[in-house]
Amino acid sequence: MKYTWTVLLFQELVHQFRSQRSMSEVSQMSFNLDSDNNLDPQYEGEAQQKGSVDNSVYLAYVKSGGGKLAVLTLFGLFALAQVFYASTDIWLKEWVNLEEAFTAQNATAASDDNSTVVTFENLPENRWGLTSEQCVYVYAALIVVCVLFTWNKLVVFYNTCIKASQRLHDTMFRGVMGVRVNTVQLTKLCRSEMSANDAMCRGVTNAPMWFFNHNPSGRILNRFSKDMGQVDTLLPVALVDCLGFFLEVVSILVVVCLVNWWLLVPTAVVAMLLYVLRELFLNTSRELKRIEAIARSQSLNHAAATVSGLTTIRSAGEQQRTLAQEFDKLQDLHSSAWTLVLTSNRAFGFWMDMVCCLYLGCVTFSFFLFASAESHGGNVGLAITQVIGLVGMCQFGMRQTAEVENQMTSVERILEYTNLPAEHPVDPDEKALLANHSSLDFKSWPVKGEIIFEDVSLEYEKPPRKDLHPAPEAPSGQKIVADEPVLAIRGINLQIQPAEKVAVVGRTGAGKSSLIAALFRLSKLYGKVTVDGVTVDEAGLRAWRSRLAALPQRPALFAASLRDNLDPDGRYTDVQLWDALDQVELREMVSALPAGLNTKVGDGGGNLSAGQRQLVCLARAALARSRVLILDEASANVDTEYEFLSFKI
Ligand SMILES: Nc1ncnc2c1ncn2[C@@H]1O[C@H](COP(=O)(O)OP(=O)(O)OP(=O)(O)O)[C@@H](O)[C@H]1O
Ligand SMILES: [Mg+2]
Repeated sequence: MKYTWTVLLFQELVHQFRSQRSMSEVSQMSFNLDSDNNLDPQYEGEAQQKGSVDNSVYLAYVKSGGGKLAVLTLFGLFALAQVFYASTDIWLKEWVNLEEAFTAQNATAASDDNSTVVTFENLPENRWGLTSEQCVYVYAALIVVCVLFTWNKLVVFYNTCIKASQRLHDTMFRGVMGVRVNTVQLTKLCRSEMSANDAMCRGVTNAPMWFFNHNPSGRILNRFSKDMGQVDTLLPVALVDCLGFFLEVVSILVVVCLVNWWLLVPTAVVAMLLYVLRELFLNTSRELKRIEAIARSQSLNHAAATVSGLTTIRSAGEQQRTLAQEFDKLQDLHSSAWTLVLTSNRAFGFWMDMVCCLYLGCVTFSFFLFASAESHGGNVGLAITQVIGLVGMCQFGMRQTAEVENQMTSVERILEYTNLPAEHPVDPDEKALLANHSSLDFKSWPVKGEIIFEDVSLEYEKPPRKDLHPAPEAPSGQKIVADEPVLAIRGINLQIQPAEKVAVVGRTGAGKSSLIAALFRLSKLYGKVTVDGVTVDEAGLRAWRSRLAALPQRPALFAASLRDNLDPDGRYTDVQLWDALDQVELREMVSALPAGLNTKVGDGGGNLSAGQRQLVCLARAALARSRVLILDEASANVDTEYEFLSFKI
């Protein structure tokens, strides 16, 4: 539970803004499904990449795993392990040939009295003069070395993958590391408005408000759950199989060619066939995986929207007629995509089997056609066993290479969220603070709490459109401005004196909440807002939002203890916490609870009444002792006594 005040307050506001559209989410269940129904401009369909996964995605994954050094170490370990695997097989071949030669010698000696008996170590083929027993030792030693290398390479490999997953997750969440797909774009941003430090903070938690307004929670959850899960669990397995597969294929081909180099011809043909099959399969399966991921987001959105609007749905008795039908529709869509993923996998496996059987036939019959006096049984046996191994592995390996590319679509989707536009500036601009407010002690800012709005307008941003065309031409030849900013509040000038209590009154939709959004810079702001003479650009968003307190209309509580909800950073003592509860007159209620401050609060404060939730939030604001406290109809659910309390604070 490491929520900072910034995140907390921000989340409260996000929560509030979300709540304004929770019902529209319920009616949004069919977005993406049917373009005719997709009328709400708030939600665009989820972006789906096309074509093969870009090399930069692989590169970004490798970079997050540790870069060049990690890759070189891994390749070194895998190659060495492979050399020992092949050596074991080659040694087995040598040994079998020696045993065969020894048996032949003995048979000749038994039938021919003149010939002398040759011992195993004196055989002309036995270059090193080893005994039969020593051959076993060499074989056993090679196997032990193989086991050690296998263990070592896998430990290093999985550690690298875990590191890559962790860094990808952290970047997607907080944007704290340097994995960037589009460095050119980032450099441009850095040059234009952002500091390099701000540019690094490009994760979901630093995304601007429009991102949350335009991306349903199910879509974001999907990336953090299923996509991340695939990168955590399935991708490393597919990758290790792939790496092992390529190295093994190379080593098997070397071994086979040492025995009968003519086999290179059918091998090349088979390799070509397998490659064509893989390409055919990949083109289909990659797109199917992407479609499946998007279909999954829709089901998750539906589930999330259903849970948040459950009371309304039940009261309207709409569980069966619309809700179940809508969900079935989404479920069917997802199941169809998933079934296609599975069937295309099976079909690929079947055709791979066919090609591999063909190759096995070629190898076996090649020994009848090209049999020579030197063809030892060991050589033939080795070639056939290797090829049988190759057949099984080819199937599995090719499937795994395709799987890697499919799983890489998850990395691609995660990287998309690591490269989100970020709010800025995050940190204070020390230089500007020093130049404009030389006597200011920024640590204790704001001391007075004077708020000034100068010609302030607020625009609720829309996500940047990728398909932005030049403005269309009007019939008369006049240009139509495609996206003129729609201002929620326009040209506001006001001054709130220190310790002054100001109430803003207006009919619904007048822009009262938008004033708060402007103060907290939750969307695109025109004009200037200052608190004690300091602007948000000077103070930085983190400090700005954490030093001002706001209580939204719908209080935000977390599924944690009451203590964590009051004091997420663990900054205050129990005495201070009880004092704050005293101020909002909750002491009696909390002390009556068996676990007191450690009582678990349900998700969103489910086990508290609406008024109690607001009081807990008010206690949280009281603890912060902020000079500026903003209440957005926060007294909607409580009695007049509470209203009086909030004014006291
Ligand atoms: N997230 C948003 N995206 C786009 N437009 C918005 C958004 N939130 C509010 N608006 C628009 O801004 C205008 C002002 O809305 P605002 O929420 O500030 O009104 P309000 O005075 O707080 O109303 P209420 O009393 O109902 O809370 C409205 O026309 C609304 O449609
Ligand atoms: Mg409002």
